[in-house]
Formats: sequence, structure tokens, C-alpha cells
Amino acid sequence: MIPREIIDEIVYRNNIEDVISSYVTLKRAGSNFKGNCPFHSERTPSFTVFPATKSFYCFGCGAGGDVISFTMRAENLEYVDALELLAQKSGITIPKDKVDAPTGPSRKRVLEMNLDAAKFFRSCLFDKNIGGEAMKYLTETRQLSTSTIRRFGLGYSPNDFGALTNHMHKLGYTDEELTVGFLCGKSKKTGRTYDYFRNRVIFPIIDTIGNVIGFGGRVMDGSEPKYLNTSDTPAFKKSNNLFALNFAKANAEEQLILCEGYMDVIALHAAGFENAVATLGTAITPSQARIFAKYTKKVIITYDSDNAGQAAADKAMRYLAEVGVEVRVLRLSGAKDPDEYIKKFGKESFHNMLSESKGSFDYKLDKVIISHDITQPQGLLRASAEICSIIAGTYSSVEREIYISTASKRLGISVDSLKADVERIQRQRQKEQAEKQSKEAYMSVKSINDRVNPDASKNIKASAAEEAVLGLMLIFPECRNGAATGKIDVSEDDFSTSFGKRVFSAICELERTDEGFSKAMLGQVFSLDEISRIESIEQKRSTLSNSKEMFETCVQSLKQSKSSGDDDILAMFEKKRLEAKKLRESKASK
Ligand code: CTP
Ligand code: MN
Repeated sequence: MIPREIIDEIVYRNNIEDVISSYVTLKRAGSNFKGNCPFHSERTPSFTVFPATKSFYCFGCGAGGDVISFTMRAENLEYVDALELLAQKSGITIPKDKVDAPTGPSRKRVLEMNLDAAKFFRSCLFDKNIGGEAMKYLTETRQLSTSTIRRFGLGYSPNDFGALTNHMHKLGYTDEELTVGFLCGKSKKTGRTYDYFRNRVIFPIIDTIGNVIGFGGRVMDGSEPKYLNTSDTPAFKKSNNLFALNFAKANAEEQLILCEGYMDVIALHAAGFENAVATLGTAITPSQARIFAKYTKKVIITYDSDNAGQAAADKAMRYLAEVGVEVRVLRLSGAKDPDEYIKKFGKESFHNMLSESKGSFDYKLDKVIISHDITQPQGLLRASAEICSIIAGTYSSVEREIYISTASKRLGISVDSLKADVERIQRQRQKEQAEKQSKEAYMSVKSINDRVNPDASKNIKASAAEEAVLGLMLIFPECRNGAATGKIDVSEDDFSTSFGKRVFSAICELERTDEGFSKAMLGQVFSLDEISRIESIEQKRSTLSNSKEMFETCVQSLKQSKSSGDDDILAMFEKKRLEAKKLRESKASK
């Protein structure tokens, strides 16, 4: 474990608002800062940074914590690795022998291992005796130049169960490290480790800092599976990375091209389109959409022309639109993917196609019109219903007006009729949304569906009392001290939820150390979701008028609540629902 004084120093030197503002545009709001939450999509900022308590909390999604847990979330790192990153940023050196966590290899170790493996795969590819066939496949079948092969660090994994394993053993890597890093599998029968990638061309996946974080491996014939990919490891999360972003980020400002496959990206870069990236064998995720938003204004999606590709394009459009990126779609004809297209028709032709890519509305309009016979009344009805529903989902009223006018021309229906239908759908959705929100808010308040603290719903009064006590302990050192030293009579046994018990004893234990309590230490014991909950308990408490004098009263009600009975949740739910309904109605009548 990293020594406490170093953790304190790291937190001290990494001002939370400075660290966060390198990820989020923050605007001052009183003594705090606000911005759009980097952990969920939103249009009005509910993400707040509190410099006074060195913490952040999002009132939209509930993510919260300190500068360490922020970094863990933002960079997808474990606690120790987040500390290391922050240490690096602020010029602090963590003593070497203290870094390696007792459980499993660190991210750093996995990265070292990947780099060594990548070098091994490359040397195999360039060895005529071992990688001759693979080189022939890449240069002849796939028509890649040697310089492209070198630029992407491509390699070959020999057709052998032990080639990489033996090589890595010689370099000092253990079986455990090799399996955790997903370079080796472990035989269930013999317990021996064996090479995971065999007889495949290897595509290293490199992050924006230049680390080799994982690999994709393709067969050279028609066998299955066509690709093998590194699963999630301490150094890699598929859903948080994009292939070739390390190159594309320098050319991303205006637009990025999103395609499906490694080979598409490589072919595009080789043809001079150095702003192409791909997801890593999965459909695009919201966190990948946010990566796009971070690097570019516009994304051109060119997915395979098959049905799966087109369905994936729809999803990508939605996620990208949610994070405010302009989306265009390029539908290639005469070729199944960009790689094939460039080989057949050349790069100039692809360049021309780029400028003919369609905005997402025109693309969807085309699709709807193609799939119905709009010369028949029934077909026309269905097509216009689908289109109105698409338009109703558009946020900007200017955009809606433009789309209605386009649709009116294409369908031959008047602007007024389309507009009336769009507005009707919008009203209907608003109503549904309001109902859903009041239900969700109630569920979360009453902790039904509560993953972090599943016991909370069993005794709602007790869990509210627990939160009051814990909130005060988080805010006021005097309350912590009173509880930790026994000056105030409260103990773990007074808590009824196991989460409450754990938080209480963690605070007390830290309080009793020489250095005292620090939020920065919570990451060692609690998961990110739990830390968010702890932050939310503190935030909720600090919005009430508080004083440390209340602590004993709260402790009393905690003790009483434990013995009192359960609430009738359903009855309360019904009451809340009626209240919300009344409120809506009174608003509507104003
Ligand atoms: N993929 C995968 N596992 C598979 C098939 C595909 O992970 N069994 C992922 C790979 O990242 C691949 C992408 O999905 O790059 C697109 O798949 P596909 O279109 O089949 O492959 P291409 O990239 O076009 O590869 P190639 O041109 O070599 O056939
Ligand atoms: Mn292909």
C-alpha cells in the first residue's frame, strides 16, 4: 500500500477543480463549479465540483467522490493506478516497492508485458521462417505496404501452444501475469498455461498515450472465430477505447471516421484518411461516444453495408447525437466495407463519397422511404408516422422545422399536417417522461432497487437515520471524533444496513489513525459506486441547515429507528404517486 503521507500529498497537489477541468468545461456557480457530467449524457449541467470539501457530485447520475475516485472513473483505473497517475502529474514519486498491490499484477506490469508481447509478435512476422505466410497474407492478400505494417506494429503469433509463453517466461513474467493479461489461457486439465493467440496476424491496440493495451488476432483462412480479442484486463477495457485513436487524435479536430473493423481503419490510414478509428469488436458504447465528443465535432459513420452493420450504425448515431456530436452516415455501394471499397474504387472515389455522406435525418428518411411503398395510402401512412416519430425526438426546434419541410417535399404531405402530428407525439412523450421520472425519483429515494445498499428498503426510517448520522460524521470532525473515541455512545451495532455499518466503521477506523480521517483513503475499501453513495450522503446532509449539535439527536433517532417496524412501502408509494400527479395537474392548469 502507498503510505498515507504520500496519498495526502497527492490529493493536496492535485487541486480537484484543476484536475476535473481538464476533462469537463467548468463554470463558476457561487463558491462551486458546474459542468456537464462526464459520466452520463446531459444537456443541462448537474455535475458539481465543491472546492471547499475537495469533492464532486453529479445530481443527475449520482456519481461522486474525491479527486482520486474522479480519476478512477474518468480514466478507468484502479485505486492505486489512479494515485500513480495523479502522482506523475504533480511530480511526486511513489516509492517503488510500495506500489505493487498484493493482489494480481498492476496495470503498469500488464502494459510492460503487452509491449514485450507486441515486440515478440512483430519479430515473428518479420522472421521469414516463422512469419513468411503471415507476411504474404498482409502484403499480398490485404495489400498492405511494409511501412503501414510497421506503423501499426502488426505482428504474427506462431502456430504453437508455447511460443509466446516460453518467450515471456524467459523475460520473467509469471503464469499468473500472463493469464491475467490475457496473453495465455490455462488448461483446465493440466493447469498449464498456453498461448492464447496462435497462427493469427496480430493487431496491437494502442491507447492515446502510446501504451499497448491489448490485441486483436485474425485468422488467415476462413476458420472460426475470425478474430480473437483481448478481454478486459487491468490495463484494458474494450468499451473505453478506440482502435487507432493514437494516430487519429492528431487529425480529429474537424471530423473522425468511424468504421467497424481493424482492417478498414488500416486501409483508410494507408490511403491518407488518418482520422479513421474503430470500436474494438463490439457495438459502440456511451463511453466511446464521449471519447468522440472529447476529440471531435463531427463523426462520419461508415459501417458495413449488411443488416448488422446498418443496425449498429443506428445505435452509433443515437449515442453520438446524445453527446452533441454531429453525425453523418456514409453508405457505401458496390463494396461491403471501406477496406474493400478503396481497393475496388480507389481513394479519390472514397474522398468524394465522404462529401456525399448524409446527415442522420436524411439517412433515416431514406431508410423509411425505401422500406414502405409510399405510392399506396397505407404505406404512406406508416412512413409518415415513422418519420414524425423521428422528428419528434429532435431536440432543436429549428432542426425540427427543417426536417418537417424536407419530409413534406419527399412524402407530398403538407407541412401543417406533419407539424401537428409531430407536436402530438411530443406531448405524449413528455407526459410519459414525467410519469417515469416521478416513479424513478421515488424508487431511488425509497431505495427500492438500491444496489449499493440493498438493505435500505427493509427499514426506510433506519436507513434515513443512518444517513443523517453518517452525513454529519463526514461533514464535522467533532462528530467523527465523538463517535470514534466513544465520547458519544454510538457503535456499528446501532446501524441496521450492512453498508451503513461498513461506512461507519471505516470512518471511525480512519479517524483513530495518527493522520486522522481522509476521504482519499476510502477508495481502498469501497467501490466507485459506494464512494458515490457516500458523497451523496454528505451532499444531501450539507443542503440541510446543519450543526454538530444535532449529532446526538440524530444518534438517538438512529437507535430508536432500529427497533421500530417497517414502513408499508406500497402505501407510501401510492401516496407519493398521487402527490406527484396533483403537482403536475396544478402546474398544467397554470
Ligand atoms: N470482430 C470480432 N470477432 C469476430 C468478428 C469480428 O471481434 N469474430 C470485430 C473485429 O474487431 C473486426 C470487426 O469486428 O475488425 C469487424 O468485423 P468484420 O467486418 O467481420 O471484419 P473486418 O474488419 O472487415 O475484417 P476482414 O476485412 O479482415 O474480414
Ligand atoms: Mn473487411
